[in-house]
Amino acid sequence: MSGAYLVLSGVAKRFRDHAVIQGLDLTVAKGEFVSLLGPSGCGKTTLLRMIAGLVACDEGRIEVGGVDLTRMPAHRRNVGVVFQNYALFPHLNVRDNVAFGLRAQGKPTSEVDAAVAHCLELVRLDGLGARPVGALSGGQQQRVALARALATRPRVLLLDESLSALDRKLRDTMRIELRRILRIEQITAIFVTHDQEEALVMSDRVAVMNAGRIEQFDRPDAVYARPATPFVLDFVGQSCSIEGRVASRRDRQMAVETPYGALIADGDFQVGESVLIGVRPENVRLVDGAMPSHAADNVIRALPADPVFLGSRRMIHFQCKGADRLLAELPGEERSAMDTDQPVSLCWPVERTLAYRRDAPG
Ligand SMILES: Nc1ncnc2c1ncn2[C@@H]1O[C@H](COP(=O)(O)OP(=O)(O)OP(=O)(O)O)[C@@H](O)[C@H]1O
Ligand SMILES: [Mg+2]
Repeated sequence: MSGAYLVLSGVAKRFRDHAVIQGLDLTVAKGEFVSLLGPSGCGKTTLLRMIAGLVACDEGRIEVGGVDLTRMPAHRRNVGVVFQNYALFPHLNVRDNVAFGLRAQGKPTSEVDAAVAHCLELVRLDGLGARPVGALSGGQQQRVALARALATRPRVLLLDESLSALDRKLRDTMRIELRRILRIEQITAIFVTHDQEEALVMSDRVAVMNAGRIEQFDRPDAVYARPATPFVLDFVGQSCSIEGRVASRRDRQMAVETPYGALIADGDFQVGESVLIGVRPENVRLVDGAMPSHAADNVIRALPADPVFLGSRRMIHFQCKGADRLLAELPGEERSAMDTDQPVSLCWPVERTLAYRRDAPG
């Protein structure tokens, strides 16, 4: 899995005065599984529709396997699409739904039959070919939609919230099935989901999108542990965020003045610059006599506000100032220090302390 296969360069789309996709670049390798993650309205579906040829690009270029698709009509692109609502043909049975694209391409019957049988086997629906699609469960319909998209052996498969309508258990199964099928068929896929866990678990790389741009494109562990921007820190997973100002700097380490005292973070911003400090809540620990903090820790004192029990863990929110957010994820049984209304000491390693430049003050 290397090199450039699907390449978007400077792609832009505007609906009237609304720039929905803004000079977007993305390079995906052959066989790679990429998730697009981003808030509602950030342009995920629009981007998929541009790749599929259902929405024209205003600017930029879309290339797959060295072929320029930018001006190619949708039906010639051979890009498979699975939408959330599956959009199956209700008057056709399973086999005819899956065969549809191949027949439209004028493929000989023997070839169509072989491909349909292969795809139904892949999605484990062999035996249901003659069933009307209206007589299938949601999960089965989802598999038919996938088989239909796979039948023409697409260059790229685009999946727009394709698992969202399924119940939790079926989704878990379908995630594994989908990855298995795409690996067997060596298909490059872009997957849109609202479910972060789904994106982090399934993807080779995750693209985090905000307002028509990609803010970070990286491996799931890197996106989570080293968010490139405050937006990614906030959008992917839970996080603490604390506003401050650089008070001093030595080499690549800064002392940041915050309402909770000085915090140390790696970075080379100028003294006086506004900074946003970020920490993942699972890196935050409570300090008590039994577990002293290390010299390499940042330590602050805060008053617990709102413990939320999550089964095996607890998420504790702390009172803080302004737009700041302080929370700690603790093992479910670790409650002693939290049973008081007294401030407690929280600490986390300097090396887990993220620092971002804040563009505008306040
Ligand atoms: N045909 C259209 N005409 C005008 N505006 C549109 C059109 N299609 C989409 N938009 C606007 O473009 C923006 C992005 O829409 P898009 O459907 O791509 O978002 P999305 O990221 O898929 O959101 P969601 O997660 O809710 O599905 C929205 O503000 C939407 O209203
Ligand atoms: Mg959408």
